[in-house]
Amino acid sequence: MGLTDKIHKIAVIGAGTMGHGIAEVAAYSGYNVYIYDIKQEFLDNALNRIRWSLEKLHSKRMIREDVATIMSRIKASLDFEEVVKDADFVIEAVPEKIDLKKEIFKKLDELTPPHAILATNTSSLPITEIASATKRPDKVVGMHFFNPPPLMPLVEVIRGRETSSLTMRTTIELAKKFGKQAVTVAKDVPGFIVNRILLRLMSSACWLVMSGNASIEAVDAVARYKLKFPMGVFELADYSGIDVFYYVATAMAERGTEIYECPLFKEKFEKGEYGVKSGKGFYEYPSPGKYVKPEIPKDAGEDLNPVYLVASAINEAAYLIAEGIANKYDIDKATMLGLGYPKGILRYADEFGIDNVVKALEEMARESGMEEFKPHPLLMEMVEKGKLGVKSGEGFYTYPEFEEERMENIIIRYEKPIAWILLNRPDKLNALSPKLLSELSAALDKIEDNSDIRVVVITGVGRAFSAGADVNAFVGVTPFKSVIFSRRFQELTNKIEYFTKPVIMMLNGFALGGGMELALSGDFRIASELAMVGQPEINLGIIPGAAGTQRLARLLGPAKAKEVIYTGDMYNAYEALEMGMVDKVVPPEHLEEYTRRFALKLAEKPPLALLAAKYAIQFGLETDLWHGEALESALFGLTFSTEDFIEGVSAFLEKRKPKFKGE
Ligand code: COA
Repeated sequence: MGLTDKIHKIAVIGAGTMGHGIAEVAAYSGYNVYIYDIKQEFLDNALNRIRWSLEKLHSKRMIREDVATIMSRIKASLDFEEVVKDADFVIEAVPEKIDLKKEIFKKLDELTPPHAILATNTSSLPITEIASATKRPDKVVGMHFFNPPPLMPLVEVIRGRETSSLTMRTTIELAKKFGKQAVTVAKDVPGFIVNRILLRLMSSACWLVMSGNASIEAVDAVARYKLKFPMGVFELADYSGIDVFYYVATAMAERGTEIYECPLFKEKFEKGEYGVKSGKGFYEYPSPGKYVKPEIPKDAGEDLNPVYLVASAINEAAYLIAEGIANKYDIDKATMLGLGYPKGILRYADEFGIDNVVKALEEMARESGMEEFKPHPLLMEMVEKGKLGVKSGEGFYTYPEFEEERMENIIIRYEKPIAWILLNRPDKLNALSPKLLSELSAALDKIEDNSDIRVVVITGVGRAFSAGADVNAFVGVTPFKSVIFSRRFQELTNKIEYFTKPVIMMLNGFALGGGMELALSGDFRIASELAMVGQPEINLGIIPGAAGTQRLARLLGPAKAKEVIYTGDMYNAYEALEMGMVDKVVPPEHLEEYTRRFALKLAEKPPLALLAAKYAIQFGLETDLWHGEALESALFGLTFSTEDFIEGVSAFLEKRKPKFKGE
């Protein structure tokens, strides 16, 4: 029985930006939700916003249940007692005022059943202090959602001083039921993971500008183009509100976090230039409230080494690890899902080299005289021990040796005996252009001839495996050219299906349309919990053209395949697993390691017997039992002609591990 099985009614206190979003998530996840606020107008507004958002998600096929059914699970009320009296789980999302929160928690403690867990969605206030207003501090927990809750996949779950393990586990499980990735913050530190890391980044950005080392544009160009963050640092401050960062930084400083009070932010804050919402911040926005991407020239950051921008954030991550506040996986997950970075902050650290990070910090500490930039002892220790990151094979993570070959849209990583093929067009969600497909085909040819490689893994860089055929390539194309494109793409999928080495598809994110068809041609599909799969072609007025109608029907049976193709719906990883579209679902932070271990296991097996098994199964699927069996016998006989057969039998008799050569 799951820990959340007894949660039937959820109460959300506060119907503002976060509250209404959280109520929406709970409702579309199947829970009955009561939502409370102090004015009818706030409640009406919240319900309207929820309906609008649900309709949007529905039209994007991200939820399948109809909007009215989901709405029927939400009750809005001005009666606090009615809302909370039989709630099993309460999420408070009122303004960030400690006295207000304490007053609410006191009332919650009095009015909710004794088993109810009371969560606060604070981003800056101490959980422990909020919990002190109750007689059940063991059942009080931080549950920090990101804005907007329906779209942001991350929840930080924070342990107050007295929060019990059971409360933590139940809250994490509930976050998962909400379709979110939860990270554990084991100590109640201000800013938790994401805001602490972000504020260090902001303060480095600010210091770089104030010290004359870089311009605002240079910093943002480095963030956008070199680090590949979704936005520049100052651009993000404008986008989310300079006032918001100012308040969070001030709240953290008040609670004892050593943090640079940035004159740039202070000045903007005092002038009321908050960013997008006021029409002006670090950049200008012609219509206040409407975000337009600021023009930032690509070469503006040419002279700025990106390590200076991220070093302090890495330092903060080291602190979080050393103090037992968060583990490396959760820190990286939080930076990827909370901030939208293409990789975790500790992966950046390993790629820059820990020695270079330390050097940058020392330089910044020296020049600025600020404690904040002093390298954390954990980083110094790593340098001493030679754990420098990718270049030394070990940093925060370990790195097997590999060689890389880069094409325009594909990277081949030779990590003997595995070859990783990375679809590398992350800006376009790895949309499959004719160029990318021909490079993929060429990559497979190279790997085919390489006897050191026993297993192939295909995956995508960034947040998608592949969002399908490049829709831009469809514009103005003639029907005949489409037939040819379809045939060539099908040939590629056949090449993969009958490839002489096992092919694992590692679905790291969206696998849609042609992306899903590509995935279907592999021997296995291992999906991250974040993967979303589907065949959305029908929504464009077309049908799958890379054997999706054929392979999906063979895999799922005709009715399920028709459902997927006719509706064009998207399925999350667990739904896909239940239907049989993927074979395994793994948390995102363990996806690569799980896949590597599985690939290595296959790599130990006799390659020719693997090939024989593959052919017997694949060709057999296309024929009747009699012919399939005849093929099996022939291939069975053929395996007796291999040296690997002699090795396999000898090793068995000698009680040792066989070493297969593929001969
Ligand atoms: N072809 C070409 N470009 C694509 C693409 C495709 N199949 N899928 C995504 N992209 C591009 C987008 O145009 C966008 O580029 P831009 O930043 O230059 O505008 C970028 O990738 C990011 O996609 P975006 O739509 O902004 O991301 P999102 O998170 O809002 O939505 C998806 C993600 C996957 C839901 C959405 O991109 C989508 O529906 N893609 C098309 C899927 C499809 O129909 N595939 C079948 C094609 S036959």
